[in-house]
Parts: sequence; structure tokens; C-alpha cells
Amino acid sequence: MNQDQIRPMSRHVGSEVHGLRLASASDSDIAGIKHLLAERGLVVFRDQDLSEEDHIAFARRIGPIVVNNYFPANGGHPEIAEVRKSETQQVNIGGGWHTDHSYDQVPAMGSILVARELPPSGGDTLFASMAAAYDSLSDAFKATLETLRAVHTADHIYGPDGFLSNSDQGADLKGRDLKTRAVHPLVIRHPDTGQKLLYVNSGFTTHIEGWTRDESLSLLNYLFSVGMREEFQCRLQWAPGTVAMWDNRSTWHYALNDYHGHRRLMHRITIDGVPIH
Ligand code: SIN
Repeated sequence: MNQDQIRPMSRHVGSEVHGLRLASASDSDIAGIKHLLAERGLVVFRDQDLSEEDHIAFARRIGPIVVNNYFPANGGHPEIAEVRKSETQQVNIGGGWHTDHSYDQVPAMGSILVARELPPSGGDTLFASMAAAYDSLSDAFKATLETLRAVHTADHIYGPDGFLSNSDQGADLKGRDLKTRAVHPLVIRHPDTGQKLLYVNSGFTTHIEGWTRDESLSLLNYLFSVGMREEFQCRLQWAPGTVAMWDNRSTWHYALNDYHGHRRLMHRITIDGVPIH
């Protein structure tokens, strides 16, 4: 893989890699992909023809696989979680800004999503750079944020009273009785690049440690509004054969739900992470 094959998707996040066949990538290609992922937060490959076995084999070259506790597994392969919405469902998976697995003590490093069935239009995914969001803040505010930790959980999404459990996605989901709670610093360093990152997200961060929910929301809602600024985002328009890999520490993502009446099926493999500080 050389520089001519890499095109930025926006100023702060995302690169497309052209002319690389993932199923037969060399060890030096894999090292280059990992480096690019750490730098850009999202790496996209077009026109791939990855079988489910190829998807798993490629994921294993990136890192150990972690099985998602909630999404339905693909029949033949427990490593592959299905992110799906049928013609008759109204609610989609991932339809709000979030980062995967921040409710785990050791959040997943990233995910590799393969487009299997796409609507005729719509169904794009937005990504946002948490390095750019952090860098945009004043030094004094950054210093305050660095003294704080936040609580993350998935119980309000997937638990018995959870939003998704009680939506038209509920019947397909697992793990209703699981309990999750993790406390992470508001500002973390990327384990590979050392870059400082804003580490809260509107999907799973419920409050600041030691603060009430109301007190927390005043700060969290402000930070969410910073993370959502359009200049920190890029938009991925999927096509048959598109594969995307993102870093959950340095990005948020948002699966747009603008294709009611059509089916969308994505296969996701999540890659294990390392402790974050
Ligand atoms: C997800 O949030 O992992 C799903 C993203 C997508 O379906 O585009």
C-alpha cells in the first residue's frame, strides 16, 4: 500500500484506500492499514468481495475478535454480528451518535463492517473525530475535563426497559438481563498515537462520576454538541462491496435511518481493545 492509494474523506476523519484486495493483503499492507486507522479513525475499502470467512480471517489479522452481547449473530458464524433493518421495521441499530462498547471496562478497539444488503438510497453512516473535538476546546476547559471521569452503561438501551429492547428491533436482540457499567476518564490518550481524545458519547455515557444526572447533562450536552460539529465529521456512502473499519476510541459514528420500507443488512466484527487511560 502506498500514499497514492490513500484519499482523505474529510479534513479530520476517514481515509479511503484504493487498489487493495483485503482477502489477499500482505503483512505490510496490514501494518499500513493499522497505522492509517490509528491516524485517521476510519478506513474504507471499496469493491471488496469478502466472504464471511474472509471477513473473519481479515479481522483476526487486525486483532482478537470480541463477540457483541446484544446483536443477533450471523447463523453460521458467532463472530459476525448482524446489524439489520427490514422493510417493515422503523428503528435501526446505531441510529444516534455513539461509539461501540464504551460500557465495557476495556472498550473494543474498533469494528469492521461489511455491507451485505443496501437500500436503493440512504443508509449512510456519519463518523466524527474525537481528536478534533478535543483539540477545539480551550486549554483551561481541557484542564478541567481532564480531572473528570464519566459513567458508561448500555442498560438503558438493551435492558428490559431499554429503548432498543422495547422497539421493533427488540425481538432480534439478546442480552436483556446483562448489566454493564464502566467508568472512564473524559479525556483519554489514544493507545497508539498518544493523541488526546474526548471520550464521552450520547449513546452510552449517562453521567459524570459523583455528579447528579441533571448536573452531568449540562456539561455532557455541551460536549456532545462539540463532537457533532459538522467540520469534525465525514459521511460514508455505502456501495456493494464496501468495507469500513473504525477506531472506537477516536471516533463516534451514526447510522442514518432514512430508508424506511427497504432492507439494510451489515455484518459487523468487533475487535478487542486495550485498557484506556
Ligand atoms: C453500528 O453502529 O455499529 C452500525 C453502523 C451502521 O450500520 O452503519
